[in-house]
Amino acid sequence: MADTLTITDNRTGKSYEVPIIDGTIRAADLRQIKVGAEDFGVMSYDPAFMNTASCRSKITYLDGDAGILRYRGYPIEQLAEHSTYLEVAYLLIHGELPDKAQLAAWQHSITTHTFVHEFLKRALEGYRYDAHPMGRLVAFLATLSTFYTDAKDVRNAECRRMHTIRIIAKMPTIAAWAYRHSLGRPYIYPNNELSYPGNFLAMLFQIAEPKFKVHPVLERALDVLFILHADHEQNCSTSAARGVGSAESDPYVSLAAASAALYGPLHGGANEAVLRMLKKIGSVKNVPDFIASVKKGEGKLMGFGHRVYKNYDPRAKVIKRLADQVFDVTGKNPLLDIALELEKIALSDDYFIKRKLYPNVDFYSGLIYQAMGFPMEMFPVLFAIPRASGWLAQWSEMLEDPEQKIARPRQVYIGVDERNYVPLDKRG
Ligand code: ACO
Repeated sequence: MADTLTITDNRTGKSYEVPIIDGTIRAADLRQIKVGAEDFGVMSYDPAFMNTASCRSKITYLDGDAGILRYRGYPIEQLAEHSTYLEVAYLLIHGELPDKAQLAAWQHSITTHTFVHEFLKRALEGYRYDAHPMGRLVAFLATLSTFYTDAKDVRNAECRRMHTIRIIAKMPTIAAWAYRHSLGRPYIYPNNELSYPGNFLAMLFQIAEPKFKVHPVLERALDVLFILHADHEQNCSTSAARGVGSAESDPYVSLAAASAALYGPLHGGANEAVLRMLKKIGSVKNVPDFIASVKKGEGKLMGFGHRVYKNYDPRAKVIKRLADQVFDVTGKNPLLDIALELEKIALSDDYFIKRKLYPNVDFYSGLIYQAMGFPMEMFPVLFAIPRASGWLAQWSEMLEDPEQKIARPRQVYIGVDERNYVPLDKRG
């Protein structure tokens, strides 16, 4: 049995044999299928990349039908239980879990790069108090590109390593400062004695306490949420990071592009959209009517469905358990009952069963964030902070991959054929 695919072109009667490697044929192999010497050759047409692999990657394995997610081979459930976000970030970027010395050096590098240029404070003053923090995050990442002009040397592995550390270290600082600005509160400088999530919580919520006490359950919960959000292979924002990065743009603007993609309500903005939806539903008794309206096509059940998962998102399972631990500390989020009822009805309803629509990572995460005191607008930012490590791992992998070039899809032109320009006074 050969690992090949035989294609017969019924226009010419010719047959072609193309190799199948890892269950994939190369779209470029289709170009040999032509009706004549002048013919460009057959292309594959795949809007929204429904069935096209854009890279070979060693970072994240995802089986959407089985509900499996692994970073560098490690199941997400094990990482969520035993690891920390910084260790996971190391794993994503370096390919292996660190030993003790490597982890200590990594944590030291991150914690000594958490400060941002004072100019950023002045840049913040240029925003209205109610500017969405994701808009600011996108802009700040691009602004950092103007400070670190040496980051443009993207083919240099040492340069990539240095700026990878800088970005992971500074994400919480710029996110926290954007939040403080929206409240008119003074900015809190990073405290390098605290853990990565602990420092972030302090920069967000410290008021006048000389030493901000981070609740250990909330600190761990945030760390687990960061682990769960760290990477998710070739999603919309990661593809944006790879696509922009393929033009050899620096990592700051490549991640600004990725953050812009994440901002959208169909992607990282969904956790915010879930909370807005739950608030709009208002009460458990309104859930059946809401589900009926979704089935009539009057809106989506936000936090449900996924391009790849056609099963319960494994991250949503971990988050659901985490929610109980957080609510024990903060008190139950009153919207939880509505979410549970929505899930119960949706999972037993034909419309959702037939379309394999299950809760995704965003369905419960917003409830936890809200219980922890985060305003809704911060939810996508909480997604972007840990996803930075995934974006950077993917960006570096793309640059090291000898097969990759500047990303440039083809199109099928369906517009009008050549025609002559008509002067304005002659147009009908
Ligand atoms: N509520 C109701 N119906 C839905 C939903 C939903 N949340 N999601 C998909 N469907 C329906 C579609 O209307 C479509 O029905 P049809 O076959 O009758 O036309 C069918 O299910 C297939 O859906 P598609 O839109 O083709 O699926 P796609 O893979 O393109 O979309 C997406 C995936 C964007 C995530 C979609 O499920 C959605 O919009 N969900 C809500 C937003 C959300 O939660 N996004 C977060 C995703 S996780 C993340 O990005 C981190």
